[in-house]
Amino acid sequence: MQVKIDRKNCIVTGANSGIGYAAAEGLASCGATVYLICRNKERGEAALSKIQSATGNTNVHLEVLDLSSQSEIKSFVSRFASKDIPVHVLVNNAGLLETKRVTTSEGFEMNFAVNVLGTYTMTELMLPLLEKAAPDAKVITVSSGGMYTVPLTTDLQYSDEKFDGVVQYARNKRVQVALTEKWAEMYTNKGIGFYSMHPGWAETPGIAKSLPGFNKSFSGKLRTSAEGADTIIWLALQPKENLVPGALYFDRAEAPKHLKLAATAQSHAVIDSIIDNLRSMAALPQ
Ligand SMILES: NC(=O)c1ccc[n+]([C@@H]2O[C@H](COP(=O)([O-])OP(=O)(O)OC[C@H]3O[C@@H](n4cnc5c(N)ncnc54)[C@H](OP(=O)(O)O)[C@@H]3O)[C@@H](O)[C@H]2O)c1
Repeated sequence: MQVKIDRKNCIVTGANSGIGYAAAEGLASCGATVYLICRNKERGEAALSKIQSATGNTNVHLEVLDLSSQSEIKSFVSRFASKDIPVHVLVNNAGLLETKRVTTSEGFEMNFAVNVLGTYTMTELMLPLLEKAAPDAKVITVSSGGMYTVPLTTDLQYSDEKFDGVVQYARNKRVQVALTEKWAEMYTNKGIGFYSMHPGWAETPGIAKSLPGFNKSFSGKLRTSAEGADTIIWLALQPKENLVPGALYFDRAEAPKHLKLAATAQSHAVIDSIIDNLRSMAALPQ
């Protein structure tokens, strides 16, 4: 973890708080140029100045955008692409567990809009910049062990009348793991490595807000944000030959994507139709 990656450009989404903040700080302390993607300017600026002073790395930059908005993602990527720099590492960390059904101004269920559609569009639109960093490029997507409880489903926006945010979050996190597997299949020949990871349960502002009971019961016993971010940084620093394309990682090691008795493995067969649906929602060419 003492490796220096001075010439690498890393993007971390949701970098002002919790695991994303710790990942961005860790990458900055290895010398990388880090772009923090945050939805709130003040929180982003506070994180930026904290990371710069903690690491002494001035090559840390803030980009403000809301990942629940497809139009904001698209205008960010076209702005960013004009810099014409290679992207070595994209960390899709931003995420949320919204327990109530909330619909974005573009008409998408909020958990899905950020965790799945935002992640999908951001990654797909970043491919040309990732290709510029090939064969070193990596996309690391922060999933959750919560996904073990559910199969992959084509019901992306939770059509049941009685909304359950915890189940929706788990479904979103399952999509991230299946997408990573598919991306690896589709784009490994482009020199881009795709990995998903589970950070373990960490005491973060996100957990305190979404799962207050869980947070209270386990206060002091959960991981720190830095511990949660450890495998993200490790994945970013590892030579690609040491990593398995499309795999899920936990604590610096490959982890199973399915629990033995959960009968979720066959469900990944629907990923192609999910991708067709995501492309159409994101208005990307089929
Ligand atoms: N903590 C855990 O135990 C745990 C376990 C498994 C998986 N995870 C995953 O780890 C990742 C980080 O979670 P965390 O626990 O560190 O939570 P957190 O402290 O709430 O951090 C989440 C980050 O995502 C950002 N974000 C949320 N919605 C966004 C949007 N629409 N646009 C841009 N940024 C947005 C947040 O920004 P704001 O500060 O502006 O809200 C924040 O910076 C998530 O993907 C989560 O699912 C966490």
